[in-house]
Amino acid sequence: MKRQLEAIKNQAMEKLARVSDIRELEDLKVAYLGKKGELTGILKKMGALSPEERPVIGQLANEVRFALEESIAQTKDRLIKEERSIRLKSETIDVTMPGRIKPIGKKHPLTIVLDELKDIFLGMGYEIAEGPEIELDYNNFEALNIPKNHPARDTQDTFYISENVVLRTHTSPVQIRHMQSHKPPIRIICPGRVYRSDAVDATHSPVFHQVEGLVVDKNVTMGDLVGTLQAFAKGIFGENSRIRLRPHHFPFTEPSAEVDVSCWGCDGSGCRICKGEGWVEILGSGMVHPNVLRECGIDPDVYSGFAFGMGIERIAMGKFGIDDMRLLFENDIRFLRQF
Ligand code: PHE
Repeated sequence: MKRQLEAIKNQAMEKLARVSDIRELEDLKVAYLGKKGELTGILKKMGALSPEERPVIGQLANEVRFALEESIAQTKDRLIKEERSIRLKSETIDVTMPGRIKPIGKKHPLTIVLDELKDIFLGMGYEIAEGPEIELDYNNFEALNIPKNHPARDTQDTFYISENVVLRTHTSPVQIRHMQSHKPPIRIICPGRVYRSDAVDATHSPVFHQVEGLVVDKNVTMGDLVGTLQAFAKGIFGENSRIRLRPHHFPFTEPSAEVDVSCWGCDGSGCRICKGEGWVEILGSGMVHPNVLRECGIDPDVYSGFAFGMGIERIAMGKFGIDDMRLLFENDIRFLRQF
């Protein structure tokens, strides 16, 4: 029995030295010290020993038990330390490693132009007003003095959602919304997306952006319109830019004018950009039609106003020398990086 005890001890010690995780250790503990463990098995047989042998073997058995318990506790300590150091090693951060470079984005050319426009007009005391892209026929046409069956509707290539609901074809409906909910004096610009059922090519897109301007107050004149647009052209295209007005027709303004800016490519002498004209058309404008003011509850005998609307794509293309509108929507990083 003595030899058996020695053998158990040696065997257990050897196994403990090789244990590599806590679960294995628990299993070992059960195998030797558990209720059905090897050491316990020996102790159970002690009853069969003679009274002289019993205390000797008993003491030895206890020594073996203490030795095992002690060694199990130490092994547990060792395993916990090993596990911790493995975890620390795997979680170590090498602070000397170079960081991952995050490319910094740039403003889209349309955003650049829009921000400049906002700057210019906010500086002149304008506020920004916005409206929905899905719009009532009433706001997009009717209230703008374009009744049903008016020929001007044909030129707008409208996407109809239902008989009375359209994708707005211009930002002018925001004029209506604003005048119906605000009293003069009014000084707003309305940037936004507009829709026309045009085929995509270098100068057309079914979705594009406009900025509308509207001023309504007492004694607003065409001279105010011209002065405002001159300031705008200089701000966007440079101090040397000039504008000219050509008579035109819009149902919601009277009189109406199309506005050209002196060509940014040749300053007026004629080049490829302006097709030899020296001027490039950039916007539509005019004095707000009395019918429109009246429809919005503003007395045209007391108040007058001017309005203008411009396409942002066209202005961005002019300003940055972009010759194909599609580039503005494809969002190729290599293109966008240049601005
Ligand atoms: N809404 C017109 C268009 O889209 C532009 C415009 C706005 C003209 C305001 C005059 C006054 O073509």
